[in-house]
Amino acid sequence: MIITSEDELTRLKDIGRICAAAVQTMAAALEPGITTKELDDVGRRFLEDNGAQSAPEFCYQFPGATCISVNEEVAHGIPGARIIQAGDLVNIDVSAVKDGFFSDTGSSFAVPPVKTKVERLVRDGKRALWLGVNQVKAGEPLARIGKAIGAFAAKNRYTLIGNLASHGIGRSLHEEPEELSTWPDPDETRIMTDGLVFTIEPFLSLGGQWAEDGDDPWTLFSEPRAPTVQFEHTLVATRNGPLVLTLAD
Ligand code: CO
Ligand code: CO
Repeated sequence: MIITSEDELTRLKDIGRICAAAVQTMAAALEPGITTKELDDVGRRFLEDNGAQSAPEFCYQFPGATCISVNEEVAHGIPGARIIQAGDLVNIDVSAVKDGFFSDTGSSFAVPPVKTKVERLVRDGKRALWLGVNQVKAGEPLARIGKAIGAFAAKNRYTLIGNLASHGIGRSLHEEPEELSTWPDPDETRIMTDGLVFTIEPFLSLGGQWAEDGDDPWTLFSEPRAPTVQFEHTLVATRNGPLVLTLAD
């Protein structure tokens, strides 16, 4: 959506803060021994307590309140009986709706102890996201986001999952502009409009090129299999730069 009033911005900030705080609350509960279902319940309760509803459940009948993807899973992992172990790489992605406004945010966490290269991947995944965020400015080409993230990945010898794009958001979970590349894309010619609301969510990997389907209709795996992280914010393009909506405080 494109924001046209102060009231819309206020509501987007509210649901953005709720999604960010939900991820934070779930991350605080993340430890060896907890199942992904128990972790999801923490997120579900937090959303409910704040008057929000899970967006994947609401929009797509996803079987869980949040997406929790562990190790070989890159995205849309279904919460279930899987028990978190020391050394796991866990992605928590929360999107939710309140009063008709949507927001979407995600982070990857390494459950200690982990290998140095995985620790570095987590740190650099967050860096890649912020590099993209800092490219945002109304009137500028959308392509500069993918260009900056792509240059960072190449320089540091990471790969980017090439078929999981970012997206417009606001009055629904996924809306125009769709398929925003977080990698260099010569076909991307669109311009960031003032007030445009969208996500940036690069998937940085130690070798993964694509996300592919598994046995269930939701979970996506990296191909080839490799540790992969995702960090995501929902933000607004303004004349002064990015306004990030999914900050916890
Ligand atoms: Co998300
Ligand atoms: Co998203």
